[in-house]
Amino acid sequence: MDKIIGANETEQIRRNYETLSGTELMKRNLYRPWPARITSITELTATEKLFELRLIDPEVREAFTHTAGQFVELSIFGVGEAPISISSAPSKQGFIELCVRSAGSVTGVLHDKQCGDIVGLRGPFGRGFPFEEMKGHDILLVAGGLGIAPLKSLINHIHDERHAFGNVTILYGSKNPSEVMFRSQFEMWQHRKDFNLILTVDNTEDQPWDGEVGVVTKLFNRIDIDPNNTYAAIVGPPVMYKFVIAEMRKKGLHFDRIYVSFERAMKCGIGKCGHCMVGHQYVCVDGPVFNYWEAANIQGAM
Ligand SMILES: Cc1cc2nc3c(=O)[nH]c(=O)nc-3n(C[C@H](O)[C@H](O)[C@H](O)COP(=O)(O)OP(=O)(O)OC[C@H]3O[C@@H](n4cnc5c(N)ncnc54)[C@H](O)[C@@H]3O)c2cc1C
Ligand code: FES
Repeated sequence: MDKIIGANETEQIRRNYETLSGTELMKRNLYRPWPARITSITELTATEKLFELRLIDPEVREAFTHTAGQFVELSIFGVGEAPISISSAPSKQGFIELCVRSAGSVTGVLHDKQCGDIVGLRGPFGRGFPFEEMKGHDILLVAGGLGIAPLKSLINHIHDERHAFGNVTILYGSKNPSEVMFRSQFEMWQHRKDFNLILTVDNTEDQPWDGEVGVVTKLFNRIDIDPNNTYAAIVGPPVMYKFVIAEMRKKGLHFDRIYVSFERAMKCGIGKCGHCMVGHQYVCVDGPVFNYWEAANIQGAM
């Protein structure tokens, strides 16, 4: 039988709770959104904006660390929550960047917010990319559309510790030139020697474009990779995975070094509600980043 708690006991629990530090509170109550101020907003495309957020509680802000590939639950008070990948590198202390497409109720209201407005954050949640395991190897990253958001966190983290990696190749495909995100940063990186970055667009109708044209898989003809020393990660629309993995296999890449990230409808983000379940896995805690073998064993995932 459930224990019924009396008024005195409830008051004691409340007092105990109030003595906890922000960090302990954050760990104990994973459902609590922590207020965060929007410190900058950058328009990336007609539908995507980059939001820089700063958690208001200094203790929570200091305790917040993540690995590339993890996500937060973003709340708009009175509207709801949405899972969003963290775009900034773990080394970016004190600020969290989210690259958000206006897709519905939460993200639509977020897009109307101004600098200085307050939103809520829970997290970070989920399993990110195996950054430590990837060290010492060449890296091949393939992004399609909004998939660049979580990969940007990984790219920036690799950039911070560039000496720990071999060749780094990044292939990024967008539908058309106006949808290429972080374009100026990437165009700058295209001239650097420490990244081999190739951008492509499916068509060039909306803006002038002097780069590659065609789907991202076409870029595999242009790259040389050492299959025995390369870790690969893919993030993009589900339709892309099968074809990109086929190209990776043609290059001889090992399945156990290919990682994918999945987006599934989520609610709690912490393995309680079952909304994100695919096969026998909870994408929110077992993923969103999965090794190829794990993903291949999840019924309907690919
Ligand atoms: C792990 C993970 C990471 C993610 N990372 C990112 C990220 O970095 N950036 C990002 O932008 N998104 C990301 N997403 C996707 C994002 O979570 C969803 O787009 C978000 O849940 C949308 O929430 P919402 O309340 O704004 O939309 P909802 O209102 O819940 O709408 C969701 C869907 O319904 C459709 N819809 C909504 N309203 C209508 C309507 N009136 N008529 C017809 N269709 C409608 C929308 O087109 C949309 O596809 C991620 C998802 C996951 C699971
Ligand atoms: S979102 Fe609730 S279990 Fe994954």
